[in-house]
Amino acid sequence: MNIRRARPEDMPGMQACNLQNLPENYVMKFYIYHSVSWPQLSFVAEDEKGRIVGYILAKIEDEPEDNDEVHGHVNSISVLRSHRRLGLAKKLMLLSQQAMVDVYDASYCALHVRKTNKAALGLYRDTLGFHVDKLEKGYYADGEDAYAMKLWLKS
Ligand code: ACO
Repeated sequence: MNIRRARPEDMPGMQACNLQNLPENYVMKFYIYHSVSWPQLSFVAEDEKGRIVGYILAKIEDEPEDNDEVHGHVNSISVLRSHRRLGLAKKLMLLSQQAMVDVYDASYCALHVRKTNKAALGLYRDTLGFHVDKLEKGYYADGEDAYAMKLWLKS
């Protein structure tokens, strides 16, 4: 298994992985925008054949609220079922979080997650130390609530 920074040519593989794993899907332009704007923040996990089995798509918040500190945002992370519970998502998250600090001096990392997504909540809260910042009612297209979560990146 190889984990490395995502390149523009990885975007179709990341999109395919996203389509298999999540109901929140994005047009190719969205992936390219991330790759061009914040090339240091997105990563892929590839198998021995070079097939993308996991990815993280992240950015620096480009529409911050007034007086908000510079922060990163994880738009999407997923790992193919065949490759789960191997620590890949944790590694992808840690690499992106580190790059948010090193490259952009980000103060914190933010993300949204479905209230019922036990696996992702385990990853964010129990493994990585995120906390719930607020509950956003009806955030998802199907009406499910989201937890807006945050992790402070600097001690
Ligand atoms: N149940 C409970 N806790 C879990 C589970 C699970 N099924 N899966 C992972 N965790 C937690 C555990 O604490 C785990 O540590 P442990 O294995 O030592 O117990 C920790 O997360 C790290 O697990 P990883 O092996 O790194 O996680 P994995 O590579 O399996 O990926 C992910 C986790 C990304 C949530 C995967 O299950 C997935 O792709 N799910 C579908 C897509 C998804 O929900 N993505 C997140 C949406 S929110 C967003 O994108 C911002």
